[in-house]
Amino acid sequence: MDWLKGSARLMIVSDLDHTMVDHHDSENLSLLRFNALWEAYYRYDSLLVFSTGRSPTLYKQLRKEKPMLTPDITIMSVGTEITYGNSMVPDEGWVEFLNQKWDRTIVMEETRKFSELTLQAETEQRPHKVSFYVQKEKAQEVMKALSAQLEKRGLDVKIIYSGGMDLDILPQGAGKGQALAYLHKKFKTEGKLPKNTLVCGDSGNDAELFSIPEVYGVMVSNAQEELLQWHAENAKDNPKVIHATERCAAGIIQAIGHFNLGASTSPRDVSHSLNSVSENSGPGHEIVKFFLFLERWRRGEMEFSEAYLSGLKAHSLPSFVFVHPSGIEQSIPDFTNAWRRSYGDKQGKEYRVWVDQALPTEIGPDIWLLKFSKWELSGQERRGSIATALLSSKDHSPSEGFSWVHLHQTGLDEAGASHYYADWLC
Ligand code: GLC
Ligand code: MG
Repeated sequence: MDWLKGSARLMIVSDLDHTMVDHHDSENLSLLRFNALWEAYYRYDSLLVFSTGRSPTLYKQLRKEKPMLTPDITIMSVGTEITYGNSMVPDEGWVEFLNQKWDRTIVMEETRKFSELTLQAETEQRPHKVSFYVQKEKAQEVMKALSAQLEKRGLDVKIIYSGGMDLDILPQGAGKGQALAYLHKKFKTEGKLPKNTLVCGDSGNDAELFSIPEVYGVMVSNAQEELLQWHAENAKDNPKVIHATERCAAGIIQAIGHFNLGASTSPRDVSHSLNSVSENSGPGHEIVKFFLFLERWRRGEMEFSEAYLSGLKAHSLPSFVFVHPSGIEQSIPDFTNAWRRSYGDKQGKEYRVWVDQALPTEIGPDIWLLKFSKWELSGQERRGSIATALLSSKDHSPSEGFSWVHLHQTGLDEAGASHYYADWLC
């Protein structure tokens, strides 16, 4: 996050399962719409925080299964683990804080006495989190008895029920809300308190996110009963919290619009040509628009037209070079020919392209360097590349659009770069 010099314009703190990620949307369209919105308009000056009940193991698994962005901060295991950046550097201060009045062994000893509790998988048992399954009908009663037992043993714990089945036991100071409060405090000390924070959730372990002062909140349309009930009892009159009419990530986009937190039209909801410019155009938007165009072109979602190919040319400087992951260089004529051949080659296939971590730097007057990663999904097969683009803003103004100067991609897939894009080059 060192790239962020001042306060974030918007900090989104979102749960994953059934909030950012819709497990009933096999094409992941609302997630892809959110991704395009974030990379086009927010990545460069805002913060994306994922806050999940999953352990690091299950979180990494989800990232492989779904087209998710890379967050700036990852909060896992129901607010008991906070990590920063791509390499997921743990927050040691948080770990120390959670050690207070916490003794895992005592929790294990006491919970063993409850036959209603079934221990969850080993991966989900963490240093500051012990997790079980319990039937909905028994949950309230067990929670009450257990909390009395643990108090007797001198522990100060928090027991949370989520999704009508999961029971988590954490130190009292832990949880998704406490983790967010800790981050806010930390940012405040650094003079970097985000201008706005939007929290997003669907189930019981998200409830405390909505009681952090000053935050905007969205319960997605598909929120669980236990969260809606908590809201009715505790936050009904708070105008800063809404129950969206849209599911999952579409509900998050809806809330951004509702609370006027910034651009809320995803580039995926706009059918533009390459040369369209918008008020909010910036280098991130340019990259998102370009790869979205590639996706639609290869899916054959637009008519084939030479005009689009001339558009490509008009969009680049004559000296433009594309360095392909295989190492081959393409100048404008080769590049446009490759586009011509690739028209509709992904028709009827589940082909999607998304951009992640598009971070621009203005390296000189009117010239931008963008580093980003780009992912492609074709049916089950997923390929990634890291890329660098040089863009120059037209007429000294990013809102007039950009000309492409250079694009260099390096393949990240295990099989190496040689077969990468073979279909695109041949
Ligand atoms: C995730 C975790 C699980 C936890 C649940 C609710 O599903 O994997 O351990 O109980 O979230 O917080
Ligand atoms: Mg959830």
